Amino acid sequence: MSLVSSSSTDVQQQNFRFRCIGCGDLSDAASQDFRCPACGDLLEIIYASWKSAQPDPATLKSSWQKRRASLDALDLSGVWRFRDLLPALDDEEDVITLREGNTPLYELPQCARRLGVPRLVAKHQGMNPTGSFKDAGMTVASTFARRAGFRWVACASTGNTSASMAAYAARGGMRSLVLVPEGKISWSKLSQALDYGAVTCQLRTDFDGCLRLLQQLVLRAPVYQLNSINPFRLEGQKTLALELLEQLDWQVPDHIIVPGGNLGNSSAIGKALVEMCELRLIPRLPKLSVIQAEGANALVRTLREGEGKRLISVPAETRATAIRIGNPASWKKAAHVLQATGGTSEQVSEMEIAQAKAEIGAEGIGCEPASAVTLAGLKKLVQQGFVKPDETVVLVLTGHLLKDPDFTIDFHRGDMFGEAKDSAEVAALRHPPIVLDATLDAVMRTLERFN
Ligand code: F0G
Repeated sequence: MSLVSSSSTDVQQQNFRFRCIGCGDLSDAASQDFRCPACGDLLEIIYASWKSAQPDPATLKSSWQKRRASLDALDLSGVWRFRDLLPALDDEEDVITLREGNTPLYELPQCARRLGVPRLVAKHQGMNPTGSFKDAGMTVASTFARRAGFRWVACASTGNTSASMAAYAARGGMRSLVLVPEGKISWSKLSQALDYGAVTCQLRTDFDGCLRLLQQLVLRAPVYQLNSINPFRLEGQKTLALELLEQLDWQVPDHIIVPGGNLGNSSAIGKALVEMCELRLIPRLPKLSVIQAEGANALVRTLREGEGKRLISVPAETRATAIRIGNPASWKKAAHVLQATGGTSEQVSEMEIAQAKAEIGAEGIGCEPASAVTLAGLKKLVQQGFVKPDETVVLVLTGHLLKDPDFTIDFHRGDMFGEAKDSAEVAALRHPPIVLDATLDAVMRTLERFN
């Protein structure tokens, strides 16, 4: 059986090229593993034409605004609405879209008050079609997979990438292969991949082991890899920053804070910010900072102990399973954008993650544990004086609350750390379910107890 129907990369039509982030080598086409043939480093997409014919910032902003009122399928996507800054398509009919993007910006007034910052907003990427930020990258990368004639796409995942990939593959009439660490991803995410028809393999290893295997597989079989090593994914994920700035009426916040796992998303957001500055869409760069779980803190250690020059991998362990990654593929790209924007990295404990998640939940928003590291990290950055009391902060919430209900239930029931270990602050956040006899009296008494 052939896994590829045809190969049709039309380099003449491309408005972009691939550049190696290590040696700077330029090429019009990428190999199956999306690594530089000369030095093995990762590739990024660049738009050489912007140098000679720089798009006018005011025209771009007004055409993005106009597209908001359009009913065209491309304009309805919060990713393709910004297509002027994405790899160009020969035929717009080629796009595989689920109306991704267009995600809300929510104020977090209670959290802001507790932290002493004037304004704290959350860009909620969990409100994407499959419940995570991955959809913004997947619409672009799956479109280019199909355009290149691939019939199979594949990824290694801690759950969200696989859910997203499986959905876009199904929409685009492609088959998908998922490699996930057995027992280490949430059932909700696994169930999505199953429903969308992926061939789902639970491997007896961790995420890093799955990714290593996938990288070998794509060199042996005509399978298109949809991990964030794929630079098309990062181009799609750039639109988070474009949409955010548009929602802020192009007023640049002082800080943007994101969770860090494989470090694709922070790299994509940072790339977008740098490009927006180059294109004069914004006058200055916000500081982009990455927060990791203490048990999966490869970037934090790489920047502190390796001065950002060599990766310090770690054996990863955290209940925020989305970011249970010890050997992040895009560490160099992330280290670069943190440096370019003047941001930092920080780590947070399991208890701090659980507490922050409940605090976001108490605002009526809700997110998955990996997203809550942003608030937990912000508390530390405020304490350290890195975030000043008069500065505006945006947290990027990456996944929906329902992605990992076990975490939430264990926390509220007191099964996570043992109730005895709760501080008064944490105890006040726990809302365990109450089992009662089905009588009016029992319900009335409960109401009085909490009144
Ligand atoms: N938040 C969530 C909810 C995630 O699913 C991930 C990554 C991250 C944050 C970290 O983003 O890897 O770009 O630094 N999830 C991947 C997956 C690895 O397979 O779903 P990153």
